[in-house]
Amino acid sequence: MQKILFVCLGNICRSPSAEAVFAAKAATAGKSVMVDSAGTGDWHVGEPPYPPMQDAARARGYDMSDLRARQIKVDDFKGFDLIVAMDGNNLRDVERLRPKAGKPGSDTPVTMMMQYAPQTGEKSVPDPYYTRDFDETLDLIEAASDGLLAALDA
Ligand code: 4NP
Repeated sequence: MQKILFVCLGNICRSPSAEAVFAAKAATAGKSVMVDSAGTGDWHVGEPPYPPMQDAARARGYDMSDLRARQIKVDDFKGFDLIVAMDGNNLRDVERLRPKAGKPGSDTPVTMMMQYAPQTGEKSVPDPYYTRDFDETLDLIEAASDGLLAALDA
């Protein structure tokens, strides 16, 4: 079973959405995966996803109300097969935690979410905490989740 960790800055908008959307799509596809999400920052640890993000997700059938924010930790490199970052800053911050060569988890791949949806022309998932465009976030995450599911089967 593949274990996938989605990472953004606050873990209250993009990465919990990616966790919920990808989990739903994997379940529909009959694919057994373990998913989680985390933030590179610690400001929102313990909080549920941002209410406007939850509302937009719920309108599409994704319930995120049980999720709680946490911060990524070095051991996540050991515990997951793949870490997926929402933007370039997230990727850089995650890479700073990578265990040294030879340590457990040192080879865990870290990828960018939007590389799984090249048809969108987007490199990153823009942060809706600032853009306020929660539907754009979900559009991009749904497209990338389809691509990631296909990539796991390839
Ligand atoms: P996220 O959005 O990284 O998609 O969860 C953010 C939410 C909150 C903050 C930054 C990004 N913040 O600085 O409080």
